[in-house]
Amino acid sequence: MKKHIKNNVYWVGKVDWELRDFHGYEYSTHKGSTYNAYLIQEEKTVLIDTVWLPFAEEFVENLAGEIDLRDIDYIVINHGEVDHSGALPILMEHIPDTPIYCTANAVKSLQGQYHKDWNFRVVKTGDKLDIGNGKELVFVEMAMLHWPDSMAAYLTKDNILFSNDAFGQHYATEKLYNDLVDQCELFAEAMKYYANILTPFSAILRKKLDEITALNLPIDIIATSHGVIWRDNPLQIVEKYAQWANDYQENQITVVYDTMWNGTKMLAERIVEGIGLADPDVTVRSYNLSKSDVNDVITEVFRSKAVVIGSPTINNGILHSVAGFLHMVKQMKFKKKKAAAFGCYGWSGESVKIINESLQDAGLELLNEGFRQLWNPDLDAQEAAVEFGKAIARA
Ligand code: FEO
Repeated sequence: MKKHIKNNVYWVGKVDWELRDFHGYEYSTHKGSTYNAYLIQEEKTVLIDTVWLPFAEEFVENLAGEIDLRDIDYIVINHGEVDHSGALPILMEHIPDTPIYCTANAVKSLQGQYHKDWNFRVVKTGDKLDIGNGKELVFVEMAMLHWPDSMAAYLTKDNILFSNDAFGQHYATEKLYNDLVDQCELFAEAMKYYANILTPFSAILRKKLDEITALNLPIDIIATSHGVIWRDNPLQIVEKYAQWANDYQENQITVVYDTMWNGTKMLAERIVEGIGLADPDVTVRSYNLSKSDVNDVITEVFRSKAVVIGSPTINNGILHSVAGFLHMVKQMKFKKKKAAAFGCYGWSGESVKIINESLQDAGLELLNEGFRQLWNPDLDAQEAAVEFGKAIARA
């Protein structure tokens, strides 16, 4: 169960191959996940993070199979969310007085979730914990990356950054390291994780990356709390984060819609066609929200320079799939993205106006007034939709 990482550092986490939803049902995890916890056995024995609640007993049993739990001198909790702190209540029954090093906000988070008054030791950025053999853990607060309590811990001499959620991916693997897994899968999951979890905090992340860079710490390994450990060129994921945090976009336009009787779908197809005709170099993708995974679609929006959103009018409004998606788009606080709306209607026809308002409210720049179609598109209307797509590509 214990896997060697470097010198006296070991992985003691859990690979969750079955996980398909995270944060309730807000985030899809097609490839499972891992909850990475680490054990450092220097003169002092240190546990860094634990695992998600359903695996708490298994985690503590396994840990007790590796060491006498009473030998744990310090626990470091980088983040109080239950996927990392879930085994604390059972563990602390065995070692109730063991000090837990965490941020002040993590104390609130852990007390708020577990209602226990454990032996908390509050740390701030720059605080150090001597663990013997000339090694120290140096703490770096990572507030809002992605919770107020988040922090990272850096192990001197071994040059390991225990980054918790940052640089992670929901990606189950037994391989442990970034260089041992499929690179396409790895970076797709890393981008999806950033797009859906960290995008709202990009401005904070930019500052934090500058702050960490200024510390000039040698980093040989980035040991995240989800997915692989970055040991081969670990700074490659830091460089990716710097790109992603900087209002990232590719040469892509994404069309997102839902449809009732295929009129709005027909418009979507003609708009896609128009975009492709006007700009053969642009990547254009199209998603029916009722048939697609919303987190995957959010990732495509993250990659896009423009998004075109469509819904027919229903009950003076828009389809709930599109309304929910627009709500998610607003939450992501995307910057520097352009947008347009389209949709069919039979009589009142408010959908385009509603989508336009939502897009503006979400901080996207409208390219035009949108495309409204009364009843099903005839050949002229279909041609007009192609032209609408061309105009979007040219804009
Ligand atoms: Fe992986 Fe924010 O917990």
